[in-house]
Amino acid sequence: WPLILATWLLAYLIGSFPAGYLAGRLLKGIDIREQGSGSTGATNVLRTLGKGPAIAVLLIDVLKGLVAILMARALLGDNGSWAIVGAGLAAIVGHSWPIWLGFRGGKSVAVSIGIVFGLQWQVGLTLFAIWGLCFGATRIVSFASIVAALAAPIGFYLWGTSLPFILFGLAGGLSVVFRHRSNIARLLKGTEPKIGSSSPAR
Ligand code: G3P
Repeated sequence: WPLILATWLLAYLIGSFPAGYLAGRLLKGIDIREQGSGSTGATNVLRTLGKGPAIAVLLIDVLKGLVAILMARALLGDNGSWAIVGAGLAAIVGHSWPIWLGFRGGKSVAVSIGIVFGLQWQVGLTLFAIWGLCFGATRIVSFASIVAALAAPIGFYLWGTSLPFILFGLAGGLSVVFRHRSNIARLLKGTEPKIGSSSPAR
């Protein structure tokens, strides 16, 4: 147990690395959480700081998830899947509720993609394709993210993964949907901004 808890703590800390927040501070001297949707994720970085910083933040956030799982596999390989998916959840919690930012972070889409690729790459590819199709059809990032999050447990189930992975898909997916509450309200009102359109509402 001490090793498992230490690994989960490390995964939380990896997830909590505030790439989007640092980009805002370093490039423009702003708190990204006071801009656009208020999220520290790559979509809000795109709106607020532009393409280059958004791509960098996206890559870092995906890597955080992947590294958290690779680390957990290396440290906890003998403890089984439950311990490893626990590290995935810890990384999601770290990104969404980072201790450094008063527990106000991002929506954990990119970090979750990295985690899913680390757990089972086929499911990662499937969810990424679903995300891409939904985004291509609507140009709305949050809509694509919510659909992909809801598809996560189904994806793990269909690829025949073990119960811990399926339950991770369910818990992680629901957590991502929960973080999109304000997006869901805007989607229902028809006011959620598309990528390429100007003003995001908060
Ligand atoms: O990855 C987060 C995305 O799904 C929505 O971001 O900034 O539009 O709320 P945002």
